[in-house]
Amino acid sequence: MCGIVGYVGKNKAIYSLIKGLKTLEYRGYDSAGVALIQNGEIISIKDKGRIDHLENILEYDKFTGNIGIAHTRWATHGIPSKENAHPHIDQNHHFAVVHNGILENYLELKDFLCKEGFSFSSQTDTEVVPVLMEYYYQKDKDVIKAFQHTLKDLRGSYGILIITPLLPDTILVAKNNSPLVIGKGCDGIYVASDVPAILQYTNYFYFLEDGQKAIIHDDVITFYDSKFHEISKQSKKIDWEMDAIDKNGYEDYMLKEIHEQPEAFKNTLNGIISAHEPIHFLEFSLDKKYLEQLKQIYIVACGTAMHAGLVGKYAIERLCRIPVIVEVASEFRYQDPILDEQTLCIFISQSGETADTIAALKLARERKAKTIAISNVFESSITREAKYTIYTHAGPEIAVASTKAYIAQVGIMVSLALYMKEVLEGVNDEIIALKRDIIEIPRLMEEVFKNEDMFKELAHRMSKETDLFYIGRGNDYHTAMEGSLKLKEISYIHSEAYPAGELKHGPIALIDKGTYVFGILTDAQVYEKTFSNLEEVKSRGANIILVTNQDIKGDNVITIPNIDPILSPILAIIPLQFIAYYIAKEKGLDVDKPRNLAKSVTVE
Ligand code: M6R
Repeated sequence: MCGIVGYVGKNKAIYSLIKGLKTLEYRGYDSAGVALIQNGEIISIKDKGRIDHLENILEYDKFTGNIGIAHTRWATHGIPSKENAHPHIDQNHHFAVVHNGILENYLELKDFLCKEGFSFSSQTDTEVVPVLMEYYYQKDKDVIKAFQHTLKDLRGSYGILIITPLLPDTILVAKNNSPLVIGKGCDGIYVASDVPAILQYTNYFYFLEDGQKAIIHDDVITFYDSKFHEISKQSKKIDWEMDAIDKNGYEDYMLKEIHEQPEAFKNTLNGIISAHEPIHFLEFSLDKKYLEQLKQIYIVACGTAMHAGLVGKYAIERLCRIPVIVEVASEFRYQDPILDEQTLCIFISQSGETADTIAALKLARERKAKTIAISNVFESSITREAKYTIYTHAGPEIAVASTKAYIAQVGIMVSLALYMKEVLEGVNDEIIALKRDIIEIPRLMEEVFKNEDMFKELAHRMSKETDLFYIGRGNDYHTAMEGSLKLKEISYIHSEAYPAGELKHGPIALIDKGTYVFGILTDAQVYEKTFSNLEEVKSRGANIILVTNQDIKGDNVITIPNIDPILSPILAIIPLQFIAYYIAKEKGLDVDKPRNLAKSVTVE
């Protein structure tokens, strides 16, 4: 969702601001803007549309200031338009503000400020911030006091940057339930909503926690807690390399990230799984007594992360016989879930900033459940909320459609299930065999990649379709769900995933002559049953594409290596990722930035 960048230093701010915004493009946005302080005043430009468009209309020569803020907006309050784009500036041109998040009490504040004689020019919630700043500034003529009063009045989530010609070398920073990082480079201080935006300037970052603020003045950063008491903060090192956020010769990030999956999987499980050592997680341990008294496990997440949770459920239930409920985060909260000390709640989020997942995690903590976060982003919000964190080391995932993070999440979930089994029963042959399979997976993924041309050809044949179906049983159904989501989010083709046995209870009515149906068949135990379901749709004229590790011959058969059904989703999803990707390419779509979507959904 919205992206934020700020800079104060020796250089002209405009270059690092625009560069930073471009790196954040993957977050999803519909308008962009910048504001700088120069010659004692605010200079700003903003518009609806892409950053390229902003660059076309801004004259670089005119933006010479050394301090500035920038923003990409993903509309929440008010349509995408120039007026609603950030930065927002008060009527006296004293304060320019960029904001990520939602201010829940903005109507109340707006009403109050209108009565006080202030005017507004946008439909956004954000605009109350510069206007409130001005309101308080007029009272005391003190910018820092105005900042303190303004923040006290705000209710909701925010990452906020404010600049003002009244303190021309200063950026005011505040965070609450919306990510913000600060990095100190050689030639200035950078602020952003996400590490990649400023990774080229430093590997050391200060991560603000909820309620914390920072005042950046020239090259000095002063941090404050929620009560505005000065605090000290340590920077943390992020080891990501710059080429991790380049396309490295690939046409799109998504294609690059699909190809990075063997590495992502290996890096994630490095140190957790080895053939002869017991499984161990650096971050935490669960003892046998705790696992024996465990009543139930909840896995809570959204979208693809939730699909990884389903694969985790399959593994935990099969291996440990502990009941697992997988819940979509936005539903979990409102179902009054039954949680206590004997419930383990696992929250999965690539970004670690998904608002619904964070809210669900807070609820689980309130109700005394033990919480584990699985995240790909160091120091992200869920990692700070949860008792324990396990990091996936997939590297930065830029494409909106999640691929390598999913593979890494599944890797962690299966390892967690194996770990719990090992704690409960000690090492046995089943565990040893599964560990061996896990170690082989990166090589087996490379085997699947060898059929990329075939996936491309299939995509070519399907690109004009309007409806596609994905079916499977057990873990194959979970793969079907993830395959279907991948397709719809980037190709805009309607698709459905169904448990294979459920088709004849309704959806089979949609199968027509020529309808494409993907059948996922990787579990020998249910193979014949699913095959019969595929025969049913075939006899109604459907075109079947099989993804299988069984010995089946035929034109539309994608063969993947045979592996335990607990792990097979890791291989079975790859052809479906490629096919979704190539269909979107055939349709000429922007694969990495699909319409209406944001990489991290920071509003509920
Ligand atoms: O960052 P998160 O893992 O919490 O994101 C959850 C979903 O928004 C995400 O997986 C989404 O479904 C992806 N676009 C799927 O490709």
